[in-house]
Amino acid sequence: MKNIAIFASGKGTNFNAIAQAVKRGSLKVNLALLVCDNPQAPVLSKAKEFKIKIALVKRGDFACKEDFEKEIINSLKEEKIDLIVMAGFMRLLGPDFVQAYRNRIINIHPALLPSFKGAHAIKDAFAYGVKITGVTVHFVDEHIDHGAIILQKEVKVKETDTLDSLEARIHRAEHLLYPEAIKVVALGRFRLKGRRVRITGR
Ligand code: GAR
Repeated sequence: MKNIAIFASGKGTNFNAIAQAVKRGSLKVNLALLVCDNPQAPVLSKAKEFKIKIALVKRGDFACKEDFEKEIINSLKEEKIDLIVMAGFMRLLGPDFVQAYRNRIINIHPALLPSFKGAHAIKDAFAYGVKITGVTVHFVDEHIDHGAIILQKEVKVKETDTLDSLEARIHRAEHLLYPEAIKVVALGRFRLKGRRVRITGR
């Protein structure tokens, strides 16, 4: 079974959805580690609830980004991590890190990339007035919200939607899509050719 690490900085609703899928047995991976950079993050108590090992690594404790990332890599090596799952980890990984785990880091983004990149995607899409938005799971490369797309799920914007109601549906879509995408990647059910990801089984 593949060893996965989740990277998160905040609430941890995606962490929770993934941990539940693992617990139910519908996602057959070993959730070995949570990497978190924020000591106040609610995701920390979720990890304790599921008895998942935590690496709390604060950027402020390191002189430079390279040292911070080396510390994270040490924790990943200790747990023999095969796949990194970013779930609201609000930091851009440096090029050496991405190179070390090329095609073994995935991220979820709350919009249909390449539209609405960045940290406020749901709000930006709502304010823009789009009729269809959604969720994207993609490989991580050196650029923000940019790597090859693995899966996407659309979410229609209703005329009666508020930002809150849209946000709630986007999050529900994330919680369904992410365990499915992790399964595809962890079980090697894909082929990658340039930017194109072909899914070979679900
Ligand atoms: C999720 O909606 C995720 O898509 C988003 O952060 C949230 C984390 O929520 N990520 C980004 O915007 C990355 N650009 P969670 O902590 O409840 O899982």
